[in-house]
Amino acid sequence: MAAISYTCPLSWDALRFPSSSLKFCPTFPAKISGIRRIKCQSSAAAPSFTSAVNVNEKTGHKDFIHISDFDKETIMKILQCASEVKAKLKSGDRNFLPFKGKSMAMIFTKPSMRTRVSFETGFFLLGGHSIYLGPDDIQMGKREETRDIARVLSGYNDIIMARVFTHQDILDLTKYATIPVVNGLTDYNHPCQIMADALTIIEHIGHLEGTKVVYVGDGNNIVHSWLLLASVVPFHFVCACPKGFEPDEETVRKAKSTGISKIEITNDPKEAVVGADVVYSDVWASMGQKEEAEYRRKVFQGFQVDEALMEIAGSKAYFMHCLPAERGVEVTDGVIEAPYSIVFPQAENRLHAQNAIMLHVLGL
Ligand code: CP
Ligand code: NVA
Repeated sequence: MAAISYTCPLSWDALRFPSSSLKFCPTFPAKISGIRRIKCQSSAAAPSFTSAVNVNEKTGHKDFIHISDFDKETIMKILQCASEVKAKLKSGDRNFLPFKGKSMAMIFTKPSMRTRVSFETGFFLLGGHSIYLGPDDIQMGKREETRDIARVLSGYNDIIMARVFTHQDILDLTKYATIPVVNGLTDYNHPCQIMADALTIIEHIGHLEGTKVVYVGDGNNIVHSWLLLASVVPFHFVCACPKGFEPDEETVRKAKSTGISKIEITNDPKEAVVGADVVYSDVWASMGQKEEAEYRRKVFQGFQVDEALMEIAGSKAYFMHCLPAERGVEVTDGVIEAPYSIVFPQAENRLHAQNAIMLHVLGL
């Protein structure tokens, strides 16, 4: 497997943060005080158990498809870069334009608010231009084969971001594209979301390692990305879901087999949340499953994150949700609006995490 390395394009010498902006990157105080030039170097890629490696062997470019395609050092360096670029943007500086002259094709076969706007705005803020291609524009696999789409878009653009149903579609894009591909959600996983979540946890708790993150609900794409993160960075991940709605067995088995994190799958949300640093929720019926929504509402009784469950979790627990949320279904209105809810900083961090991911895969 090829070694990867990259340098975060920001230099602290070049940055002039107002002191208030430091609150946006409390994670890396040592870097702020001690190191003048930030080097986001990583010497090796982690073993990937899910797909191709993060450096495409054919083209030599990097993709961002699974968090577990990267080693811990690289993931932490990307998060550090996210924090730095976020601070720069928060300071009002609009002169950091590494994507200037670059173009991104964004493929969406499913709806989106956060992913579309955060990618488009984030790429624009760093100088780039993006093109939205909705379900009617491309009709992936119907009007045209994925392998043809990948090669045509590679001729016009510098990077592809795609949100698709079948995970194989994103793997096919990476196989045939000659430019980096970033996964903006598949039925299997949602790596950009969990990178933003990790950044948010680091900002609020000070660290990700050693925290207890308890996901309550369906064992879905969000859970798979948490498991893939847990196979790289050590923390305690618990998924509390109804019987029959557990995450993919193979992903759980492989994540546990890395021995990196403590991973538990349970059907008891009350027991699971005790001592949590984060209680996390997502919709019970994901995109593509909406016809099951009514049935799932019955089966998922007892898995709503409400004020009583947060009380059991304890006073240090934050509430997180990838959004969109169905208030009154998987989470109460009161929990989303509570002081311990960090869902909106979490949503904002999609932009910053993704900017850092794009800088990484573009080698900038
Ligand atoms: N969390 C998330 O991916 O939101 P969207 O579906 O709105 O993009
Ligand atoms: N599990 C949800 C996540 C939305 C961001 C879905 O796939 O619809």
